[in-house]
Amino acid sequence: MSSDARKTQNRSIVLTDNDRQRLQPILLTQAATTGIIQGDMQTIGPQLPTEFVDLLILDPPYNLTKNFKGYTFNQRSVASYNDWLDAVIRLLMPTLKPDASIYICGDWLTSASIFTVASQHFTVRNRITWEREKGRGAKRNWKNSNEDIWFCTRSADYTFNVEAVKLRRRVLAPYRKNDGSPKDWEETDQGSFRDTHPSNFWSDITIPFWSMPENTEHPTQKSEKLIAKLILASSNPGDTVFDPFLGSGTTAVVANKLDRAYLGIEQNQEYCLLAAKRLEMAAQDHTIQGFNDGVFWERNTKSGRSK
Ligand SMILES: C[S@@+](CC[C@H](N)C(=O)[O-])C[C@H]1O[C@@H](n2cnc3c(N)ncnc32)[C@H](O)[C@@H]1O
Repeated sequence: MSSDARKTQNRSIVLTDNDRQRLQPILLTQAATTGIIQGDMQTIGPQLPTEFVDLLILDPPYNLTKNFKGYTFNQRSVASYNDWLDAVIRLLMPTLKPDASIYICGDWLTSASIFTVASQHFTVRNRITWEREKGRGAKRNWKNSNEDIWFCTRSADYTFNVEAVKLRRRVLAPYRKNDGSPKDWEETDQGSFRDTHPSNFWSDITIPFWSMPENTEHPTQKSEKLIAKLILASSNPGDTVFDPFLGSGTTAVVANKLDRAYLGIEQNQEYCLLAAKRLEMAAQDHTIQGFNDGVFWERNTKSGRSK
């Protein structure tokens, strides 16, 4: 694709000076139960009230050296990453309601730490693996093309809305009942579809890229579709969703679009402002790419969607 074509199709969200001035006053700097706090979660965490969170989404720096606009997380030994993650969970534990759910994101290496640490504090219920599609080829190793999200709960009492996260797939073998009607699928003008139970392998996710209207410059932004699955499955409208490593604001934006309250903490002001701009945009447009008519769509079934 030519660079001109890329320029015209680039829908990434960027901040103007006007955005910065307008949105800066929205950012909080002290502990609160809703909104975006610009600050260090290690400092703010202990100041938060107790037992107000229904769903905690943790997308922390992975055990890699990465610069988040001036703040660099340095790769460390597995034992030392375990200690770091353990301290994060201990800090956040008092904020969780007894029936809260917790999701923790990581790559293959961080994933081992997550299980070790999370199982000390929570009931670990599953590990979701999602296909990133994009990934850098390696000369002497297998390319990393997927990541994990660990699903945990504080107790046996927890929310799981399975009907809200079904995946609509095209039917390959359209079995019919004796009377000729579709067995467990639906015949539509656009084709035949079945809504299937969500599994712990997600191959329908795309990481945000420049032609998607949710894309920002954040280096590790999660897609709205991915976060929407977590929020719909593990919370109800009106619940509070907390993300103490908010980044570009995906969790806050999706929570808002799905009528949940949100609290986010992020150390970098530009990322906080991007989150605030995305929330402003969400007030005009509640759509989530890949989630239409109340169902998630498998990749490449676009022609069957109503929008
Ligand atoms: C993996 S990214 C999260 C990306 C996010 N899920 C999104 O969709 O944009 C982790 C974020 O945590 C932030 N961060 C790291 N340490 C932090 C701390 N101690 N307090 C607050 N934010 C922190 C980084 O600046 C980075 O934006």
